Amino acid sequence: MRLKGNRITLGVTGGISVYKICELVRLLKKNNFSVQVVMTQDATKFVTPETFRVLSQREVLIDTFEYTSPERVEHVTIPQETDILVIAPATANTIAKMVHGIADNMLTCLWLAHKGPSLLVPAMNHNMFTHPATQRNISVLKEFGVHVMEPDEGALACGTEGKGRLPAPESIYEEIVHLLSTKDFKGKKVLVTAGPTREHLDPIRFISNPSSGKMGYAIAKAASRRGAQVFLISGPTNLPDPPHTKTIHVTSAAEMYEEVMKIAKDMDVFIMSAAVADYRPKTYQPSKIKKETTTLTHIELERTPDIIHSVAQKKRKEQFIVGFAAETDNVVKNAVDKMKKKNMDMIVANTATQAFQKDTNQVIIIHRSGETRYLPEMPKEDLADEILDELIQKVRQISPSHTS
Ligand SMILES: Cc1cc2nc3c(=O)[nH]c(=O)nc-3n(C[C@H](O)[C@H](O)[C@H](O)COP(=O)(O)O)c2cc1C
Repeated sequence: MRLKGNRITLGVTGGISVYKICELVRLLKKNNFSVQVVMTQDATKFVTPETFRVLSQREVLIDTFEYTSPERVEHVTIPQETDILVIAPATANTIAKMVHGIADNMLTCLWLAHKGPSLLVPAMNHNMFTHPATQRNISVLKEFGVHVMEPDEGALACGTEGKGRLPAPESIYEEIVHLLSTKDFKGKKVLVTAGPTREHLDPIRFISNPSSGKMGYAIAKAASRRGAQVFLISGPTNLPDPPHTKTIHVTSAAEMYEEVMKIAKDMDVFIMSAAVADYRPKTYQPSKIKKETTTLTHIELERTPDIIHSVAQKKRKEQFIVGFAAETDNVVKNAVDKMKKKNMDMIVANTATQAFQKDTNQVIIIHRSGETRYLPEMPKEDLADEILDELIQKVRQISPSHTS
């Protein structure tokens, strides 16, 4: 993560979904955020302040006239120590108060005194949420510059169905990270390919590889957090679509080629992390191949389209192309040869056995200039940021005017 700050003030108001916020606090603490919880009186009827005190490792503030030390006026001091104010769940009542500037508790006082970014996560019964009063209040808060997360749809705690459910703690966490991330990729269009491809012999059998897609998805997520407009073209994986990215799902190398070629010319950065099959069966049997013989000796294979080569051939000089090389031996030499042959600007090399399926990876980043960086083993999420750090410096050199 590349963050502008990590100090969160978390306003918790009196809705049934308060219990889910315990998990959000746990997630934030696990990832080294500092969390100051501020509860409304009614929120304490759902979960005790003690739970949040233990999870956040800080005193919870509730009453406007409470102080953690005599020299502090908490509702004024805390905003000065806050990088983002998050209100989750936000009740219809508190939302209405925020619109009108009613400052009758610690949280609403603090909201008025806070000048930085804020994220509102409304959660309530469907009728309360869709009521024109609530809808108008949310629009007003958006005009004030508040970021608002849409509630989920589905079964609600009150026994009804509809829109109003608090999003999963992981989604709120991701939204907070997104808002707090540095925006050094703002204005950049980034295309990422990820996952394996499947080359079918018949409707149920295919040739593929064990790529999980984790590396490409981590890069797409990190680039999007950092302000890029991200397009992710993915082969079959078990991963959820990263938020704030346009994800296009494909199966075969030919489909991936087609989707990439549609948009590659408009991209500033192209990161080819997919493990695309080099060969596919020459003929496809539209119905299942029967096991009529004891051995099947002849499956003729043909080359699949070379995506990175095709993109590189039409490359504009301000475009930046990054490839991946998963090799079993002579890792650096083979990676450099591949980079040169395919006219890439940078290549990320690793040993094939190390790269697949795992949550961590150890890579070598090689630039066309020969500049080489050996990175230690680290989580793919951290590696994604390292790769982006490395390439944004070069991208700035080739198209400085685009970088904000
Ligand atoms: C069991 C129960 C569940 C409630 N859940 C919600 C809710 O999810 N969202 C909401 O806006 N209000 C909900 N309310 C109503 C609020 O608790 C009420 O409006 C309260 O005054 C909110 O105060 P606060 O905004 O100061 O926290 C619920 C009330 C009860 C009794």
